[in-house]
Parts: sequence; C-alpha cells; structure tokens
Amino acid sequence: MKTHKFALLPGDGIGPEIIAEGKKVIEAAADKENFAVKWEEFPFGADHYLATKELLPEEALKDMAKNEAIYLGALGDPRVAPGILEKGVLLALRFHFDEYVNLRPIKLLEGIHTPLANKGPKDIDFHVVRENTEDFYVGIGGRAKPGKNKQMLEVKRSLYSVKFGLDIDVEKDEIAYQIGVLSRKGSERVQRYAFELAKKKKKNRVTAVDKANVLTSVYSLWREVFEKVKKDYPDIETEYNFVDAITMWFVKQPEWYQVVVTPNMFGDIITDLGAMIQGGLGLAPGGNINPDGISMFEPIHGSAPKYKGMNRANPIATIWAGAMMLDEVGETKAAADIVKAIESVIKEGKTLTKDLGGTATTSDMGDAIVKKVVQ
Ligand code: IPM
Ligand code: MN
Repeated sequence: MKTHKFALLPGDGIGPEIIAEGKKVIEAAADKENFAVKWEEFPFGADHYLATKELLPEEALKDMAKNEAIYLGALGDPRVAPGILEKGVLLALRFHFDEYVNLRPIKLLEGIHTPLANKGPKDIDFHVVRENTEDFYVGIGGRAKPGKNKQMLEVKRSLYSVKFGLDIDVEKDEIAYQIGVLSRKGSERVQRYAFELAKKKKKNRVTAVDKANVLTSVYSLWREVFEKVKKDYPDIETEYNFVDAITMWFVKQPEWYQVVVTPNMFGDIITDLGAMIQGGLGLAPGGNINPDGISMFEPIHGSAPKYKGMNRANPIATIWAGAMMLDEVGETKAAADIVKAIESVIKEGKTLTKDLGGTATTSDMGDAIVKKVVQ
C-alpha cells in the first residue's frame, strides 16, 4: 500500500481545530482509496514563539522537506505583533520551498448563498493563480528620518529644494518605502502554470492582472513575458485586466473568468473578494505550489483568534485544501471524493456551521463530510 507523508502545521487560533477535521477527512479518503497517510506534526506559531522566541528553525525545514507536502491550519495571534508570525513562518515557508504558485479556486458550491444577486454555481467557477514569491512580498523596504542619516538628508535636500524649499523637519519628513520586484523568471513560470492549468481544466481564456497603466516598470515586464508565454498556447484566448477593474468585473460578471493570473499583492486582495463571492472565507481553500518541490495547503482565511477553542469555525476551507493536497500528490480520486462529499453535505443542508446559517460545530461538519466520503 502506498504511504503519503505530510508535514502538519496546525498553527494558531482556530488552526488546530480545523486541521483536526481536515486530517480526519483525509484519513477517511485514504482508507477508502487504499493508501496510507503518515503525519509529522510541527509546533510553530504563536505559543511556540512566545515560549521559545523561535519562529522556524533550519532543522525543522529539513525535517519538513522529508515530507511530500505541508498541511497548514492558520497563523496569527493578537499576542504577537502583526507580521512576525506571518513573515516569520507563513511567508518564510512559501519562500523557502519556492512555492511560486498560490492556487485559489473560486467556486460557488451548490446550496451556498452568494451575495451576488442572480448568480449561481454555473457563474462562479474559476481559478486565480497568484504569484507567490515576488512583488511587494520580497521584504525590501525601510524607513528613514532625514536628520539621522546624512545621505538621506542630501536626498531630501535636493528633492525639497526643487519641490518645497529647504525646510527639513526630522520627524515630519520621515519617509518609508517598500519595493515591489518582479523577475522575468518568476513571471514566466507562474504565467506558464496558469496556461497549463487552463489546458488541464479545458478552459479557453487566461486573464492577466496588473496595473501597467501606473506601475509601468514592473508591470511592463509582466506584460512582455505574458506576450511571449501566450504564443505557446495559441488555442487559449488572452486579455489584460487592471486590478481595480477586475474587482468590479468579479462582482458584475464573474462568469467571464476562467483562469486569472496575477502578481502577488493584487492576488492577495482579489482572492478575498473571490472568497466572498463563493460564499465566504470559510469556504475558500488555497495551495502554495511548487510543481517540482514541496507544496503547502491551507485555507485562505486567517486564524480567527476570537473563535479559538470554541468548535464553531467552518472547517470546509481546510478540508477542501486537504483535497487539493491529495490531488497534488496524485491521489486524484480521493481528492474528488472529498470535494464531492463537501458538496453533498452542503446540498443536503442538514449540517451547516454558523457562518452558513446553521448550528453545526466544527467537528459535526468534519464528521458529516467523513460519512459522505466513506459512503
Ligand atoms: C493570505 C494571507 C497572507 C498573505 C498573510 C497572512 C501574510 O493574507 O494567504 O492571503 O498576504 O499572503
Ligand atoms: Mn490574504
């Protein structure tokens, strides 16, 4: 019997509760499809950080790499300043394993309410392929006060002498900057992934997102690469959407979209909107994918600290992310079984968590999905 090895990172807040349900469902699907699963659990997240000051040690990365994929709950905790866990664990993992694709299916399941009037499951069914290692996420940035830094003072002086005269106030004139970086290689690989996905899913349109009308340096490179990559896929229609416009079109005409490929930060923003039109954050899964390496699967929502330990969060996003993980390691049948089970539980409408208007607990939902999987 084949055994798949997965690293398990429950994380913070509701992470441990939802990941427990995901694990349960994956094990049920494995039983049914005759393969085995082995988990290696890692403690990283807020509690571990507060107790040890450790975020993600080298050794652990090596141990994680002995697994086929990583299954992550959620990270973030109000006791830790924003950015520490997100950058120190989540982004560190995405970057370390070079998971350059963030794949986010936007699919409205039968029986789920979308806030979009007159739209149904046939209208909301596409994939966002978000670049996952570049752009404003590279972490190049800083802050400077002119009076404290001689070079900065000179920059400000020349700027200010042209623009505003020479008045320099150390406090008021502080500046902050953050740089978005795209590489030709990074753009090409994620765009190619989007076209390959379109081919695999028998879709015929790829939409590239950018803001090339303003951020002309980075997104002209993005477009140049897209023009080149699309030549290898003559049967697939292509177009560009500016990021502001695509948020409007997601609401007005979601049925237009098939595969959307986007730089990192715009992808972050538009997939929260995507999650809402598919019924809410509790239903939106994502995969951080390195097609030739170790991928990581997680719900796209956060750790919802205020619901921690209450057994009330919706585990579907995490369970669905688990299905994506099985798909990625080649267990396509088990993956499909899980998605079908989620759909059928929702359609029946007997087991619904609070966010879906029901009274079921996190574990009730996991149990209901397990029941359908093994049927
Ligand atoms: C997401 C999250 C992360 C991101 C944060 C927590 C770093 O918002 O996965 O969408 O910005 O990518
Ligand atoms: Mn996000």
